[in-house]
Amino acid sequence: MDRHTLLHIGDDAGAYEFNGSVWLQTVDFITPTVNDPYLWGAISAANSLSDIYAMGGVPLTALAVVGLNNCELDKSVFKEVMRGAVDKLREAKTVLLGGHTIDDKEPKFGLAVSGIAPEGRFITQKGARPGQLIVLTKPLGTGILIKALKEGRLSQSDIEDAITNMLELNERASKLMLGAGATACTDTTGFGLLGHLRNVCKNSGVGAKVEFQRVPTYKLSVSLLKEGLFPKGAVDNLNFVREILKTSLEEWQLILLSDPITSGGLLFTIDREYESRLKEEAKKLGVDFWIIGETKEDKQIEVV
Ligand code: CO
Ligand code: CO
Ligand code: CO
Repeated sequence: MDRHTLLHIGDDAGAYEFNGSVWLQTVDFITPTVNDPYLWGAISAANSLSDIYAMGGVPLTALAVVGLNNCELDKSVFKEVMRGAVDKLREAKTVLLGGHTIDDKEPKFGLAVSGIAPEGRFITQKGARPGQLIVLTKPLGTGILIKALKEGRLSQSDIEDAITNMLELNERASKLMLGAGATACTDTTGFGLLGHLRNVCKNSGVGAKVEFQRVPTYKLSVSLLKEGLFPKGAVDNLNFVREILKTSLEEWQLILLSDPITSGGLLFTIDREYESRLKEEAKKLGVDFWIIGETKEDKQIEVV
């Protein structure tokens, strides 16, 4: 029997080869994003499945990771969270095999997901080359919107577009990424666009130039940010990339690009000549995409 690890820790999912087939494994769990427990469960599931899609893989099975405040929380809330997750898993044709629950003051929910890389082929964060186009498939700003929701500044109905996007599986985006010939990919989840881009650049040994005007954002998140409302994580994310950042943009713009994203889109690089193929595939699959910049040889991240 032949078995070995194919990737070092640090990519979106781990990859392990067993008798010629490649298994992908990942785990992700988050604190509540929206007030509705059904939606929180479904968003968490989409968020957890995302790492498999970022590798171009197919998710097959999942285990629930649950932290709940047993004293305060009603059992019906837990049922709704699970119902949301199971519905989302069904959409992803992924089976829930079980899970584990612990008592936790701050509720947490997520999944450990296993999948396969079809024909043993998968996309990592290491394959970007200078001069490629950088593509993103969902807008930024969910971290700001979730914080505003938690503080009671917004209601769920104010951010329906963001909720729809967070609920959306990256399954079709993954097909787009593969179909357009991506050489590197990651999902923008938790770390901010700049943080994820830094990882792709660092792992691939390239730099990037991003055009702020081309980056999709939620309008409401921009106005809240200008009023000074943003999660502390955005500043941490920004500080993480600052040393390789070259920019004359204003601080709020950089914070927006560093906003911690929940269930964000895929970020991938393709050769320039595949731009028309990208457009065709996106139309066929019904996926939105934005070309936000390009990779370059010099290892800084330039934002203009
Ligand atoms: Co990831
Ligand atoms: Co992850
Ligand atoms: Co990846």
